[in-house]
Amino acid sequence: MKIKDKTAIVTGAASGLGRAVSAMLLESGARVAMLDHAVGVLNEANLLGGKGFVVDVSDEKGTAAAFESVLEMLGPVSILVNCAGVAQPGSVMRKGHPMPLAEFRRVIEINLLGTINCMRLAVAQMNRYKDDQGDEEVGIVVNTASIAAFDGQMGQAAYSASKAGVAAMTLPLARELGDLGVRVMCVAPGVFATPMTLDLPEKSRDVVFSAKPPFPSRPGRPEEFAAMVRAIIEIPMLNGEVIRLDGALRMPARL
Ligand SMILES: NC(=O)c1ccc[n+]([C@@H]2O[C@H](COP(=O)([O-])OP(=O)(O)OC[C@H]3O[C@@H](n4cnc5c(N)ncnc54)[C@H](O)[C@@H]3O)[C@@H](O)[C@H]2O)c1
Repeated sequence: MKIKDKTAIVTGAASGLGRAVSAMLLESGARVAMLDHAVGVLNEANLLGGKGFVVDVSDEKGTAAAFESVLEMLGPVSILVNCAGVAQPGSVMRKGHPMPLAEFRRVIEINLLGTINCMRLAVAQMNRYKDDQGDEEVGIVVNTASIAAFDGQMGQAAYSASKAGVAAMTLPLARELGDLGVRVMCVAPGVFATPMTLDLPEKSRDVVFSAKPPFPSRPGRPEEFAAMVRAIIEIPMLNGEVIRLDGALRMPARL
């Protein structure tokens, strides 16, 4: 799909990977709605030239309202890139006591349910307006999993489960939505230098960045993720696949 003159929605757009994707799409000539639950998204959108919306992607009504506003202001969405996510580590057993279920649930709600929530709303717009666009391909969705979906570490059960869910729904959704002319792809990043990793307490940050990919032996850069998303959008044969973007990094059980 050509990016120029399309309407795109990016979630988790206030920082890190989502912000970089928003910048790439704007530079490529798209109209970009930048969604995030952090109010800082309004400022980032102003800086980049997008339109900011403060919304929690796990909130059904709030997200539906935001998508309606995008439709009114920017037109029907053709590109959705889901980057909103939280990486909340936590052991299931803590000194003999079970973890509070609410902690696990929240990670699933944001990372997994937030992703499908935005997808279903976006695809409804893509489908509703497909005749108006006259394109064979009416939409593309790029979701963000993590290599933790495959080699999750100790303390990452909730995060890994949420990201494995995001990865696992890629093929069935690509199969289901193919008839509508909508592609579904997923990127599973390794360790990237974003606020999610850079803002960790010093000790945890050092541990995360001690994971050295074989090559290039450094954390990924948000622009590299954005370049991956750009390639996915532009290459129509990419569909129903999860692409690891990790410099061949495989995480051990613990660092
Ligand atoms: N940075 C990494 O090393 C790495 C590795 C693998 C996967 N990921 C995934 O990439 C995605 C982007 O992460 P990032 O590294 O840019 O982190 P980040 O913290 O910089 O960005 C995540 C954004 O999501 C937003 N967000 C969180 N919960 C939300 C909610 N309920 N509703 C709306 N917005 C919400 C945050 O406010 C933040 O702006 C996440 O899904 C993350 O799990 C990151």
